[in-house]
Amino acid sequence: MWISVFLISAILHITAGNEGCTLSGTNIRLQEITAFTGQSVLLPCSCTVRQFDTPRLTWTKLSQETVILTQSELYRDRVEQFNEKFPGNLSVLLSHLTQDDQGDYRCTIKDRENRDEYRDIRLHVKGCTLSDSNQLEIVRSRGQSVLLPCSCTELQAKPLRLTWTKFLDGQTHAIPLRDRVEMFNTEKSPGNLSVLLSCITKEDQGWYRCEINNQNFRDIRITVKGKRSDNDAFYHRGFSVNNLTS
Ligand SMILES: *[C@@H]1O[C@H](CO)[C@@H](O)[C@H](O)[C@H]1NC(C)=O
Ligand SMILES: *[C@@H]1O[C@H](CO)[C@@H](O)[C@H](O)[C@H]1NC(C)=O
Repeated sequence: MWISVFLISAILHITAGNEGCTLSGTNIRLQEITAFTGQSVLLPCSCTVRQFDTPRLTWTKLSQETVILTQSELYRDRVEQFNEKFPGNLSVLLSHLTQDDQGDYRCTIKDRENRDEYRDIRLHVKGCTLSDSNQLEIVRSRGQSVLLPCSCTELQAKPLRLTWTKFLDGQTHAIPLRDRVEMFNTEKSPGNLSVLLSCITKEDQGWYRCEINNQNFRDIRITVKGKRSDNDAFYHRGFSVNNLTS
């Protein structure tokens, strides 16, 4: 019995080998996919015919110099393949996308006669551009909260670099914002760069800058109504209003 199982599987193996891997989607000339910076994207490629052997697979980026994804420093630790576990699944997952990843990609396999069979995909990568870079002036009373609005046109896009700074003494010193600040750039909307300042005091008055990729920025001025109070210093050490008013 074991011998016959062995024989059947050997025959199946040979038959499958003759069929080889037929790439799906080769009739589509170029599949276009759009993704956002910071995200992952699956570049699809697969065999239509059930595969017993893993076909020899290469993913390349078609730039002036052809780049083999699994061998390039540019894609180091950013490329995941599935064909070891699922031989017919030739897709590749690219993660931590940057604008430089935009371009044409090719999934190539060797067929039975050692000829190349391939499928091309054009990847568009959308980055963060500020939806509004106009200056903004906001007036609030002491103790209130204020949302400093700043966002990417596409909320799914994550800027390569984001800094929030406050300008002191005119525009000479810029300090990074850290305390009493809430941010909303979650995984679902990494392009929401707004910050919420709570319990504002006279000290919070001034100019703030939301800057992305060391390139584009939005300036926002906050004016705080009301007299300076001795408590203001405490607020700045992170006490909440409730602690101070009780
Ligand atoms: C290949 O595997 C990936 C990751 O598990 C999956 O998302 C994708 O749908 C698979 N593709 C095919 C054609 O099975
Ligand atoms: C960002 O998040 C804050 C808090 O949830 C929200 O008020 C604001 O509208 C969001 N901004 C955008 C552009 O969605």
